[in-house]
Amino acid sequence: MQKAPMLIAAFILGGFAVVGVGVVAVTHAMTDTRIAENQRQAMLTKLKAIVPAERVKNDPLADRIQVSDEALLGMPVTDVYRVRDGEQPVALVLRPVVPDGYAGPIKLLVSVLADGSLGGVRVTEHHETPGLGDKIDEKKNPWIIEQFNGKSLRNPKPERWKVKRDGGEFDQFTGATITPRSVVNAVKNTLLFVQKQGDDLYQLPAIGSQPASESSDPVNSAPPPPPAKAPISTAAPAAQAAAGMSDNANQKGKS
Ligand SMILES: Cc1cc2nc3c(=O)[nH]c(=O)nc-3n(C[C@H](O)[C@H](O)[C@H](O)COP(=O)(O)O)c2cc1C
Repeated sequence: MQKAPMLIAAFILGGFAVVGVGVVAVTHAMTDTRIAENQRQAMLTKLKAIVPAERVKNDPLADRIQVSDEALLGMPVTDVYRVRDGEQPVALVLRPVVPDGYAGPIKLLVSVLADGSLGGVRVTEHHETPGLGDKIDEKKNPWIIEQFNGKSLRNPKPERWKVKRDGGEFDQFTGATITPRSVVNAVKNTLLFVQKQGDDLYQLPAIGSQPASESSDPVNSAPPPPPAKAPISTAAPAAQAAAGMSDNANQKGKS
């Protein structure tokens, strides 16, 4: 019987397996960290494009809260990032969802400056038709920049927050009114939400940055599970996870 050579071979094979698994694990951990940091930077870039960038003196991604108003924001739970210049509130950046796009939900990034006007609006995910509804994407058309920058509930008045075809002030697209109508309504609702909550949104304790494990894409995370009933969540992340409020499930990225 030649047991010794077989044992040696088994040990060598086992050694290779252990080393192989270790290398994969270390590479995976390093890659995850880099991906999370890249996503963080991408989010910051998008955010800074719709706020006065020179006044971003905090880390808005860490100064995050979660709010709950599905009627106005389109989802059970919505992330809000606060931008501050020292003690001065600069902007709230919300991530509402347009529930009634032509081809499904449309995810937005909406910056509301401290004076109640819009710093800007961007689409972070949509499925609207190329050449028709996809003109809401600022890479395809300047519509979203031209229509919303500087607007507020004072200008135009709430009853004029409609597309022109419906008697409002916002341009629709030729042959594609459904998409802009839905976006205009969602942006108006976001302004109404901020107006309703007032300065409280700046006062609530932050729950911190989105952990990498909660989101493969901090800009385009998919619908979270149903939230607790509270209108505004101030729970710590661990408590939120226990209450089913974390922004974690079914992450799907697309920019
Ligand atoms: C294949 C197809 C795709 C369409 N995609 C969109 C779209 O993405 N957004 C949109 O608002 N309308 C889209 N429409 C048009 C709508 O069905 C609807 O006719 C239009 O939004 C109404 O606007 P209008 O009254 O200005 O024509 C699409 C129509 C077809 C046939």
